[in-house]
Parts: sequence; C-alpha cells; structure tokens
Amino acid sequence: MENVFIFDHPLIQHKITLMRDKNTPTKDFRDLVTEVSRLMAYEVTRDLPLKTIEIETPIAWAKAKVIAGKNLALVPILRAGLGMVDGMLDLIPMAKVGHIGLYRDPETLEAVEYYCKLPDDVESRDVILLDPMLATGVSAVDAVNQLKKRKITSIKFMCIIAAPEGIANLHEAHPDVPIFCAARDDSLNEHAYIVPGLGDAGDRLFGTK
Ligand code: URA
Repeated sequence: MENVFIFDHPLIQHKITLMRDKNTPTKDFRDLVTEVSRLMAYEVTRDLPLKTIEIETPIAWAKAKVIAGKNLALVPILRAGLGMVDGMLDLIPMAKVGHIGLYRDPETLEAVEYYCKLPDDVESRDVILLDPMLATGVSAVDAVNQLKKRKITSIKFMCIIAAPEGIANLHEAHPDVPIFCAARDDSLNEHAYIVPGLGDAGDRLFGTK
C-alpha cells in the first residue's frame, strides 16, 4: 500500500491550474508555489503531537494545547525546492532549514550530491523534504538516502505534482517515508518531464531557460 496523501482541496487545485498554464509569468508562478506550499503545510503538519500546558488568560487560568515533541526541519532539494520554503515557514516559523543539492550524472544516471548543509541537531528533528516535482524519483530517493545516512529517522516528502513513476520508485526505496502531493499526474515523457505537469519548476520559479 502506497504511503501517499493527495491534497485535492479546491483552493489548491485552482492554484495548480494557474501554475500549469504556460502563460503564467514568473512572479505569479513563484507566488503560487508559495501559496500552495502554505496550504499544504497545514495538512502536512496535521499529525504533530500536542501537549497541554497551563496559561493565564486575562480572565482565568486555563489548560491549553501547544505543539509538543520533536522540532521540525525543512530541507528543500536545490534548486526548485527553495520555492516551497517561504510558504512552509509562514505556518511553521520555528522550523530550521537545511539544503541538499543533487545533480544527475549523465553517464551513470545516478544522483550525485554536490551540497548538503543541515541543522546541527537535525537527527533529533522531524524532517520535511521539499521538491515541487516528483518525476522519476531519482533525486527524492537519493535525498532520503543522504538524510538517513545522517541518522535522521523521521522524514516526510512533500511535492506539488507527482508522477506515478516517482511515487512508485520513492515508495519502493523508502516505504517508511510518506509522500504528500497536491496532484498525481498521468506519466513522464521521454525527457523525464511530468505530463501534463507544469514544465521545469526551477526555470519557471527563477525565470531561467
Ligand atoms: N522536474 C521539473 O521541474 N519538471 C518536471 O516535469 C520533471 C522534473
């Protein structure tokens, strides 16, 4: 059974349609990625444990809930994952942010890590790995490998659009890692782009081609 959660909220679906449109300009696309990430953050954090503390309101002492348990770390996969950070931090400003950079070796087709900087205490945090597009799953699988090598045990993968191939590959390699996405698209094309997808998320976020 795949460990996949698809957020089909109408607001999210509407914003993804705007993102998919090739005529949506860079600034609007970037704002939409932030907005969708913010909406998704709400659901991705639904299982955060709570504890009860005692506080004094202007009227009375009260028992009230606050988030308990481990702290969070957000780890965007460079470069497109960067686009999701601000929306997530809007809702979870206490999270620390690490970064992982991977490229695909054209000869071996393996993912090669060229950058990794994580919070010092990352192994004691719940990590949410961010990449807007889960295409083949190669980068996602490798990013999770890198996190697990650093003794991180609590990992969620959050993307905006996922291809069935990416979901299957990530799930096969790391069945313990839940996948959160906002759309499951049809397939990959021969260049490993998601169909219908939205094109190259990094280029669309940063205005490169
Ligand atoms: N990465 C992207 O940015 N877009 C795709 O369609 C696939 C991978």
